[in-house]
Amino acid sequence: ENKNFHENFGEMLSTLPKGLGAGGCYYQYQGFWYSSVWLLGTIWAQRSFRARDTDILLAASPKSGTTWMKALMFAIVNRKRYPHLPSSSLASHPLLTKSPHNCVPYLEVRDEEHMIGGNPIAYLDSLPPSSPRLLSTHIPYTSLPKSILSDSGGRIVYIARNPKDVFVSYWSFCQKFKSKTDPSKGQPLAAISMEEAFELFCKGVSITGPFWDHVLDYWKASLERPDQVVFMKYEDMKMDTMQHVKRLAEFMGHPFSLEEERQGVVQEIINLCSFQNLSNLEVNKSGAYRVHIASQTGQTPLLVNNSAFFRRGEIGDSKNHLTVEMLEHLDKITEEKLGSFGLKL
Ligand code: A3P
Repeated sequence: ENKNFHENFGEMLSTLPKGLGAGGCYYQYQGFWYSSVWLLGTIWAQRSFRARDTDILLAASPKSGTTWMKALMFAIVNRKRYPHLPSSSLASHPLLTKSPHNCVPYLEVRDEEHMIGGNPIAYLDSLPPSSPRLLSTHIPYTSLPKSILSDSGGRIVYIARNPKDVFVSYWSFCQKFKSKTDPSKGQPLAAISMEEAFELFCKGVSITGPFWDHVLDYWKASLERPDQVVFMKYEDMKMDTMQHVKRLAEFMGHPFSLEEERQGVVQEIINLCSFQNLSNLEVNKSGAYRVHIASQTGQTPLLVNNSAFFRRGEIGDSKNHLTVEMLEHLDKITEEKLGSFGLKL
């Protein structure tokens, strides 16, 4: 069955519109652009992922704060299992020895450790029904597996970030792989200039782009189904982390008690998941996130150094990389596309 899937996928890929972006070759599927590895995982998830009503799914366009949110959500949900009280030892907390990406799995791709028989969904199915599954995805809202969109599909946390910083963050991320080749295509990654990648981003050709459509669909869903979808912004999280972590915990069904607040548990979680703390841990300095996907050409390995997920972690760093014209151009597109929906980024 797996073999058929991969053969059909190869055939399907050749029929899709193709484009080049900062991260290499992209394919357009259901209105959005994907790399081949991510698309294969997306279609696999659409085909066989079964949501549970206790699931909590983090969704984001890449480079919008996924790593930070994974850490926070994992720490919030597991705080009784791995207490953070100042008096307790933090030594055994998984986030100290594992990347947040190994603590909260993606729907679309599986790290080596959790791949069962070449099927990336089998591991998610094997998780016990007794505790909520914390999962994450870059899949656009309208392409999510149907069972997630049903009323019993669990909760979705969306994290959005200003597109100027998202573009610069993604461009910088891709530069780290410039010397490597795209394993699925044998093409050098980021073979285009930043200016070209910028033009393409503005036209919507970017990883899971058009960026604005990705954000807007989740924004609308959060207005239509506020109990099921919450929309958060990276900038808000940075500016008032305490307030937004409390809001996040409440939405996830794990609100902090007054007693916990008094004991400083919220602040402990914030400190544990801070850029400063996570980026200085040995696992995030020298470890790597290994993804394995069975593809039509055998196993497609994808190796990303954990350090690549930590760069500066600031608001407005795009000012140091883009010209005033580029910044204004992106602001204009954002206002045109999102302004009338009451959304500012
Ligand atoms: P910069 O490249 O602007 O520094 P993602 O996790 O979605 O891939 O996003 C990566 C971006 O989030 C990077 O932004 C990274 O530095 C930032 N980031 C990673 N961990 C963070 C943390 N704990 N707090 C704040 N920002 C973080």
